[in-house]
Amino acid sequence: MIPIIKPGDEVITVSHSFIATANVVKYCGATPVFIDVDPATFNIDPALIEAAITPKTRAILAVHQMGMPCDLAAIVKIAHARGLLVVEDAACAIGSEILWNGQWEKIGKAHGDIACFSFHPRKIMSTGDGGMITTNNKDWDAKCRLLRQHGMSVPDTVRHGSAKVIFESYPIVGYNYRMTDIQAAVGREQLRRLPEIVARRREIADQYRRLMRDIPGITVPENPSWARSNWQSFCVRLPSNLDQRDVMQTMLDAGVSTRRGIMCSHREEPYRDARRSGSLEHSEAAQDHCVVMPLYGQMTDADIQAVAQSLRSACDVAARAA
Ligand SMILES: Cc1ncc(COP(=O)(O)O)c(C=O)c1O
Repeated sequence: MIPIIKPGDEVITVSHSFIATANVVKYCGATPVFIDVDPATFNIDPALIEAAITPKTRAILAVHQMGMPCDLAAIVKIAHARGLLVVEDAACAIGSEILWNGQWEKIGKAHGDIACFSFHPRKIMSTGDGGMITTNNKDWDAKCRLLRQHGMSVPDTVRHGSAKVIFESYPIVGYNYRMTDIQAAVGREQLRRLPEIVARRREIADQYRRLMRDIPGITVPENPSWARSNWQSFCVRLPSNLDQRDVMQTMLDAGVSTRRGIMCSHREEPYRDARRSGSLEHSEAAQDHCVVMPLYGQMTDADIQAVAQSLRSACDVAARAA
């Protein structure tokens, strides 16, 4: 079978993501080409894609960062015009929605060519670890099924359930990428609860927005008109004169645990010399000036208010120190 991304290919993506996004390009022997993000959504800026395309470009790897859908309509339009594939890093985006031809559709429907989800414990739907791939491409579907189970042409479950004797074959070198049945059982139950999980996260995000919007200098995240985030993460932007670490430390001292903005891969050793097209200033600013608030379904109104109050106080302390 022909590899989809092969050595020598270039893949346009963002540095501003968990390092796994860049690593998967490297695993294929291909070159990630980093472009900047839109500061409003923390997602790949479609306006920067054209300038990054070269004769070696094969795909755009678009990350739905923190659950916020990318501007897929713009990305897919460019990709179709230039003969490129669209791979969606949907690790954080289960249950997120996008307005597609006038309809709200879930991320994972066939908008790009293939979408990859994560069920890592930090994600809103978890099976302990593992993930899911969705695609409309029948050949890739077949290939993924082969790769996940040692290249086995007919899965053991199908053979054992068959009234006819079936002998399997092994047409390619595969892997053990199976999820255990126990994990899958947990996942199916979570999937059933996903609408209520997402609805609750959206309520908390709305409350956070109301309570944090008027904190001096703070920018709260908003859905663009064409997207509905699952609010896997609620990431606020601090004014640039406030020290991110100080704000986080003051909140931690008050019992509120936060995380800094999403990392930039080009600042890590394996990607220091990585190819980039244009400046990555918005990516770096997002890492350095943003803070991710705690958000989980069991939060009470009092918890939500306490977090907002602690952000307000921490910003006040940091502003006085600035
Ligand atoms: C944007 C993004 N891509 C990829 C991954 C990797 O997912 P996994 O750990 O399930 O391989 C993560 C998080 O873990 C992520 O946040």
